This record gives sequence, C-alpha cells and structure tokens, in this order.
Amino acid sequence: MAGSIDASLLRQNAHSPSFFALNRDGGHGADIVDFCIPCNPYFPTRDMFGRLRDNLETILKYYPSGADTITAELCSTLGLNPQTVAMGNGSTELITWIDHLLVRDSLAIPIPTFGRWTDQPMETGKRVDMFPLPESRDFNLDLESYIAFLRERRSRVAVICNPNNPDGGYLPRQDVIRMMDALVDLDLVIVDESFIDFVDAEPHTSVAAEATIRPNVIVLKSLGKNFGLHGIRFGYLVANPALAGKVRSMLPKWNLNSFAEIVVFLLKEHRAEYQQSLQRLAMDRRSMARQLAAMPGLKVFPSQGNFLLVKLPDGMSGVQLRDYLINEHGVFVRECGNKLGSTSSFLRLVVRPPQDVHRLLNGLGAFLYGTDKAHLISTSPPPEMRMDDPNRSYPNRDFGYTEQQPQHRQQVPPPTPLRTASPVEAMYGTRAG
Ligand SMILES: Cc1ncc(COP(=O)(O)O)c(C=O)c1O
Repeated sequence: MAGSIDASLLRQNAHSPSFFALNRDGGHGADIVDFCIPCNPYFPTRDMFGRLRDNLETILKYYPSGADTITAELCSTLGLNPQTVAMGNGSTELITWIDHLLVRDSLAIPIPTFGRWTDQPMETGKRVDMFPLPESRDFNLDLESYIAFLRERRSRVAVICNPNNPDGGYLPRQDVIRMMDALVDLDLVIVDESFIDFVDAEPHTSVAAEATIRPNVIVLKSLGKNFGLHGIRFGYLVANPALAGKVRSMLPKWNLNSFAEIVVFLLKEHRAEYQQSLQRLAMDRRSMARQLAAMPGLKVFPSQGNFLLVKLPDGMSGVQLRDYLINEHGVFVRECGNKLGSTSSFLRLVVRPPQDVHRLLNGLGAFLYGTDKAHLISTSPPPEMRMDDPNRSYPNRDFGYTEQQPQHRQQVPPPTPLRTASPVEAMYGTRAG
C-alpha cells in the first residue's frame, strides 16, 4: 500500500526516522498511518491550524519574542511562577542542559525508557546506572527496589519517567513524593512528566508544585506530545528558582520559534478543546487496549500514556512485522528492539482514532494469523461513542498542575473479546508585550 519505503531508514539508530525522511526521494510517508510517534491526534483544533496557516508568512519572516515573553505567557496559562520555569526547544534541549550543568558523574534510570535519558549522559562520559524494569511485573517500577539500587550503585542523580515510555507505567503521585523525600541527599532527582496529561488513573498527578520548593528536584514536560505538535519543538522544566535560573541562563534568547509563540498565545482560548482531546484519547486508549488484548497471542501492558506496549507471540520478529505493516498496510509502528532493556518482541503502538486502529488490526491480523484467517478478525470498525455516552469516563484535566484538578475516574474495564474478530504582535496587536 505505502509502496516504496526505504527499509534502511527504519534500521538506522536508537530513534525512529522522521516523517520528512520517509517522504523524501519518492517515499510515501503521507499515505502512512503513524502508530510510531506518540502525538495527540485530537489537538490542535482545526481553528488553531487555520490561524497558523493564515499567518504562515508572518511566522516565517519575523523574529519571535524572546523566550522570556513566551515563557511568561505559558506560566500565566498554567498558573506557574516564571522564575521556576525554563522553556526549551523541545524537552530534549532541557535534558541536554540538565546533563551538561547538573549531572556530575553518574545518573540512574529505569529501563526501557526514552533513549536520550541513557544516551545523553553516556555521550558526555557519565556513568549510567540502568535499573531493569521486569516484564514479570508488567514493567511497573518498584520504588523500594529502585531506591536500594541507587544506594548500592551510589548514583548521584535519579531519573524516572512518569508515565514511562515505552510501557506507559504510572507511579501514583504520593509514591513519587515518597521517592523525592527518600532521595533528598542526591545531587538531583528528575521526574520526566512528558506524558502526564494523558493519565486518568487518579485526580492529582503532577509533582511540579513540589519541585519548586525542594532543593534538588526538576520536573520536565514536553509540549509536543500532549499538544500534538512535535515539529514545533517546545517543552519546559519546573524547579526551584535557583535551579530553573541556572538552566535558563544557558539558553539563547530566541531558543523558541515563532510557531511556539503563536501556539502558546492561543492556548488560553482553547482550554476546553484541549481537555476534550484528552478525554477522547483516554477513551480510545481503553478501546484500543481491549481490541488488541482480544487478539490471540498478543499481550497488552497497562498504560497511562498515549501509547500501548504490546508483546508479540514467542519467536515472532517485531522487525519483520514492522516492515510488513508499513509496506503492505501503510501502518508505521515502533518495534522496540533498539531500546535498551527491551527486545524486538515488543511493539509500542500510539493510541489513535478508531478508524486508524481498524487498519492496524487488519494488518496485524493478516501477519499473525494469515490472510486466510482474516475472517477471525473484526473487519468493522468499533462504533463511535458519543461524547454524552454515560458509559464513557473522561478525564476532566486542566493544563499542567493548575489548581483545578480532575475528577476521579472509573477503572479501566477488563478486556472483552473482539466482535468476531514577534509575529504574535502582528497577529494580536500588543498582546505579546
Ligand atoms: C519520556 C520522554 N521525555 C522527553 C521526550 C522528548 O520530548 P521533546 O519532543 O519535547 O523533546 C520524549 C520523547 O519521546 C520522551 O519519551
């Protein structure tokens, strides 16, 4: 279906190829349904994209405001003190600076996880103490064991991703606070909350407010994932004013571009749509997990992220499956063989709308059971649920950790079988000032 995808692109390094790379030289990236890059499919709204399109020339021709102006607006939307925040060109830029400035000799991290947390400190000659998350415990982080591991290795910096990538495992907020209390003597404790807006397991999730009053804690957030805008490259960290200021002082005045500025200044107007996007995504996650778990031979791990980790039947190669899906079904998935602490038996599948999941299930079914048994797999997409359906439970989230916290929500029901089968100033007058 997708035709001429250059398979060598899929084998190059620890990260997936970009959509730009897939599209270059006659590739067919545009036909592909992307289950690889974990991006909110329901945000920004059409209206927001329209505003970006209408202002493209201004956005591209003019300098954005300095990062302090954009950061001040983000903080005003999220209810944060700008002194406790540093905004980066993607949270990856902040990971880089945290490593350069604040990681002296060693860093501990549970694996598998986001590759930059292991690779960045290794590239600068630090010791990386990798704590394996056991598959037998569904990759859940056992806090006591992790702390014992840190002590035994004498690691000076501790990192957790909450929820973790690629499994989506979530540590309740009180446990994260307990960990921060126990590790107050370390140089640094980092809680990467890049996927936390997708959590619906409990009403209070983020520990960002805690970070501002502690001596050695940084909370990190990506904005590309939850706002569905990876290409813009924006993220931020929250810490006490001294720590946040230290990172901020290293960043160029214009490290954030004009797209980032426009979007940050649009956020206040689009709060409700953002909340709805998270609600739809949480519903899609439940439905997608149920459908995948009903496929014989697949194991789906519990996730609070916008992706699901899936284990393939014994002996099956995720590499072959990925290549088959992209070439025959135009479905791009992430096999986890190049992630430390994982193997090719695992796929990370991004949560996507039901019609896309339908395409994925057809491809998976054909590969797993053969096209002659395709009748065993559902060929009709799951019914669309209405927003007012009383059976759906939705997060009632707000941005970041603002005072309004979400309602507690229902538990995920057990799986059921598949049914057989400064351009801102140009745009808004003086608003950016
Ligand atoms: C846990 C985690 N943190 C940070 C990042 C980097 O995000 P950004 O796109 O904001 O640089 C990723 C990217 O996948 C991630 O998985």
